[in-house]
Amino acid sequence: MADHWATSGVDLHLEPTGPGLRRGLTDALREAVRSGRLAPCTRLPSSRALAADLGIARNTVADAYADLVAEGWLTARQGSGTRVAERTVVPSAGTASDPHPRTPTRPAYDLRPGSPDLASFPRAQWLKAARRALTAAPSDALDYGGPSGRPELRAALAGYLSRARGVRADPERIVMCGGFAHGLKLLGTVLRARGARTVAVESYGLDVHRRILEASGLRTTPLPFDRLGTDPGELQDADAVLLTPAHQFPMGVPLHRDRRASVVDWARRTGGLVLEDDYDGEFRYDRQPVGALQGLDPDRVVYLGTASKSLAPGLRLAWMVLPTDLAKEVVTAKGGVDTCGVLDQLTLTEFLTSGAYDRHVRATRLRYRRRRDALVAAVAARAPEARITGIAAGLHVLLRLPPGTEQSVVEAGHWRGLALHGLTRYSNPAARTEPADALVVGYGTPPDHAWSGALDALCAVLPG
Ligand SMILES: Cc1ncc(COP(=O)(O)O)c(C=O)c1O
Repeated sequence: MADHWATSGVDLHLEPTGPGLRRGLTDALREAVRSGRLAPCTRLPSSRALAADLGIARNTVADAYADLVAEGWLTARQGSGTRVAERTVVPSAGTASDPHPRTPTRPAYDLRPGSPDLASFPRAQWLKAARRALTAAPSDALDYGGPSGRPELRAALAGYLSRARGVRADPERIVMCGGFAHGLKLLGTVLRARGARTVAVESYGLDVHRRILEASGLRTTPLPFDRLGTDPGELQDADAVLLTPAHQFPMGVPLHRDRRASVVDWARRTGGLVLEDDYDGEFRYDRQPVGALQGLDPDRVVYLGTASKSLAPGLRLAWMVLPTDLAKEVVTAKGGVDTCGVLDQLTLTEFLTSGAYDRHVRATRLRYRRRRDALVAAVAARAPEARITGIAAGLHVLLRLPPGTEQSVVEAGHWRGLALHGLTRYSNPAARTEPADALVVGYGTPPDHAWSGALDALCAVLPG
């Protein structure tokens, strides 16, 4: 039988093969579900529509559907048609050399750092802000926007950032981007075009950020790290430096006061540029917030903020506050177009100006703080050999382990359906850091109802 497209309901590309129409169709559909080409809950075309599209008898399709319902790949319900089963468990045949059952593809508990609690995204308030923003927007707001982003959003952000983070923000210097990663890519392009060759990075951080800079043709060199945080003493040869000064990722310490000053001194002396990644600046628990480094010199420090922790990474909304000359070059690197959708920008504007953003941040800060306290208490009581540091801010802690145990703890978590990240994956391989066994435990991701289960699972795999 030739390739066919069924066009009713969903586009469904099938290549039934083998002897017998029913068998061939059943096999092709099963394979589409097994491989994930047909996602759980996808509604399939009616048997009549698929039969017409494939040029075969309706009964053949109905029989194939019935076989797959009986096997558990599909579900059929009056009124909602035939759908791919919600949780399609792919049976895995263990082999003699593979005595362990396969772990679930999705962990039961996710304690990797990175995402906030997505279940607490303020849906109702966001919808309300979106409705208000869209109702109030003039029609021409829906046209192609200016490359820096919506002016009302840049004005709202300027107010918020100077109030809450001590940023010296002028709307003219703000450029919107699709996440920190996009902003960094634009800055990498601009720096390289200016003739920069080397960007200093921290000994610990996300390798994806190093790769973004390297993809722009820049070399990255790691700065030493000690108990005062990142040491900027070796910045001499760099053209720029990428730092997480308020809350080092993932070590969790702020950049020491003297070092903040010396980074800015270096930039003034050499014409270097500081790229400040303020990824979780809203979440500070124990002390007065550590203000943005950019406040010390807005002509030498680029401030980058993101909605990925405070709201949700899927929004892909972030902002840069740039020295004036650089703002122009970044806009050119953007291709002279706005890259963030206008509706999200207008909604965020409404969210900021109505006070909903502050209320959301304050409410989630309280919840994350409680989680952090429960995590610290549980580890102290049940895993005294582990030591937690970096607790004053953010959505993760560093959980130090006895030497030589990091890998086995991560693996033990894996077998219990607990997703964990060791510190090793955040260590720059080119850095001269002492090997240290630790977990970077993110406490943002599990929804509230799963939090105590996640804690129990964690404590169960820690060396007692
Ligand atoms: C160190 C660090 N910087 C920045 C970000 C935010 O990146 P983006 O805005 O691209 O989601 C994260 C998010 O996890 C992060 O951990």
